[in-house]
Amino acid sequence: MRIDVLTLFPEMFSGPMSASLLGKAIANAILDIHYTNPREFTEDVHQKVDDTPYGGGPGMVMKCDALFAAVESLREVNSLSRVVLMSPRGRPLTQALVKEWSQTEDMVLICGRYEGFDERISQGLVTDEVSIGDYVLSGGELAAMVIIDALSRMLPGVIGDFESVTTDSFYDGILGAPQYTRPAEFRGMEVPEVLLSGNHALIERYRRKEALRVTRERRPELLEHCRAEDAALLNEIDQEEH
Ligand code: 6GU
Repeated sequence: MRIDVLTLFPEMFSGPMSASLLGKAIANAILDIHYTNPREFTEDVHQKVDDTPYGGGPGMVMKCDALFAAVESLREVNSLSRVVLMSPRGRPLTQALVKEWSQTEDMVLICGRYEGFDERISQGLVTDEVSIGDYVLSGGELAAMVIIDALSRMLPGVIGDFESVTTDSFYDGILGAPQYTRPAEFRGMEVPEVLLSGNHALIERYRRKEALRVTRERRPELLEHCRAEDAALLNEIDQEEH
């Protein structure tokens, strides 16, 4: 998969893109990341990429010209079928969206700075506008790195043991079950006995139930993703808690 990142600060990416699993995915050419600096597509001596907002008000706004030119310069190397703008005004990023994007050949991620983008960038250049949560970042770079990381682990060959992806929180729409490793007792806290039992059917049932319990406690809105068989487990949880 090829990703073209548009950023005024390509140097921000070097650390995160070279460590751990993501670093390996890039070293093994499973992911091919390229950086384009919109500043190089300005035509004025000051290389201005932002300007004051029409209508007045504080802050600066990213201009159209350099961003359009930078994206259009990629036409030969990127299909431009997905041009994604990082913005706190975007649709929330979800695992479902990450999964869908991981099945495409290439995409463009546009990172901005300043208070926002000229709306005509969304209108005429961008196919998706996404946010990584309800808080404001100083720029889109950290959000782009979040997306690249989440995408990389969905690509074949990045995570050796694909089962560890399928048991992740959000893989099937709810939070993951609690996990334990040795020792069986630590400072008086014990690992649930069923996990030591070797009974795989019972263990699976226990994990599903605990995943439902934590989801209902912390993110009840995610329970719309649960299965018909979960009703019985949710009932049991009810009985235990009342
Ligand atoms: Cl994608 N960009 C910026 N600048 N801030 C954000 C964000 C994105 N998502 C949440 N806050």
